[in-house]
Amino acid sequence: MKSLRFTMAGVCLAGLLTLTVAGCAQNAERDKKDTIKIGVAIYRGDDAFISSVSSSMEEAVKEKEEELDRKIIVNIADAKNSQGSQNDQVDDFISKGYDVICVNMVDRTAAAVIVDKAKEAGIPIIFFNREPVEEDMGIWDQTYYVGTDAKEAGELEGQIVADAFKAAPEQIDKNGDGKLQYVMLEGEQVHQDSLIRTEYSVKTILKEGIPTEKLASGTGNWMRSPAYELMQEWIKEYGDRIEAVISNNDEMAMGAVEALEENGMTGSSGPIVVGIDGTRDGLEKIVKGEMIGTVMNVAQKQAECMVEIACYCAQDENPKGQVEYLNGRYVRIPHYIVTADNIDEVINDK
Ligand code: BGC
Ligand code: CA
Repeated sequence: MKSLRFTMAGVCLAGLLTLTVAGCAQNAERDKKDTIKIGVAIYRGDDAFISSVSSSMEEAVKEKEEELDRKIIVNIADAKNSQGSQNDQVDDFISKGYDVICVNMVDRTAAAVIVDKAKEAGIPIIFFNREPVEEDMGIWDQTYYVGTDAKEAGELEGQIVADAFKAAPEQIDKNGDGKLQYVMLEGEQVHQDSLIRTEYSVKTILKEGIPTEKLASGTGNWMRSPAYELMQEWIKEYGDRIEAVISNNDEMAMGAVEALEENGMTGSSGPIVVGIDGTRDGLEKIVKGEMIGTVMNVAQKQAECMVEIACYCAQDENPKGQVEYLNGRYVRIPHYIVTADNIDEVINDK
């Protein structure tokens, strides 16, 4: 009996020791991972949509910290539109041992350099908003992309225009020729969203049975003031012939609205204006009736998905099957239409 008790004690002690050793290892592991460090490299901080993605990331991180009971550091670096600076910023994140790096490429065709570096350092990369070519995504299986479907955005934008035209042809078709005379404000030419949004917005209007005539198009590089300048020129040249302003994003639509305001062309006397993104300013213009609608590019959801993927990767867990909308290594957040019909709900939800 005595020897049995001794043996039992021995077994218990041995068990305890194993537990303690395992516990120590776990603690060490936890200490190492106690703080999750996420580096975020953005193409330019003065881009309205990108700055809402960055601030949504900071929000999403606060919630994640509570959920995981872990500190999460997010460091956002602004490349100010220079790919060289962005490469240096990524190098810096790598040398400081960041767990994951999120990259909004300045030049989306230059992603290979960054993937190579990350692969060598074993640090997962989440690209967002500016999609690398498939070949570059293929270099390493620890690369992800979070964005949207540009074709869907274009189609929904075209749908807004077509619905408005059909609902009030006498108001929109100012010269009564049955066609929609439009000007197109395009984003950066190297951005996947620009060409595709342009193409599918017009295709959708045509598919809805409305003939179109392009009066002019030009790039405002996603920004308000070049779009304002373009719109001023177009107003001088085409004046009242312009029946619609179709913009690849809300910021450029804002520039167009400013130019229209200055020329007394807003409201029912002027052309309809439509954008994409659902920025705060864009939504305000819909409330005021100066824009007929926008296509919501859900920054918040994109930010949440990035933070989710980042945290799984940082904890050496596979995000597959865990993150909403993650399909392979791609997340594409669905868009939705915002017009006067649902603007109140959208603003209340924000
Ligand atoms: C957004 C634009 C933004 C651009 C930046 C697009 O998806 O709609 O507003 O300027 O991304 O890369
Ligand atoms: Ca017309």
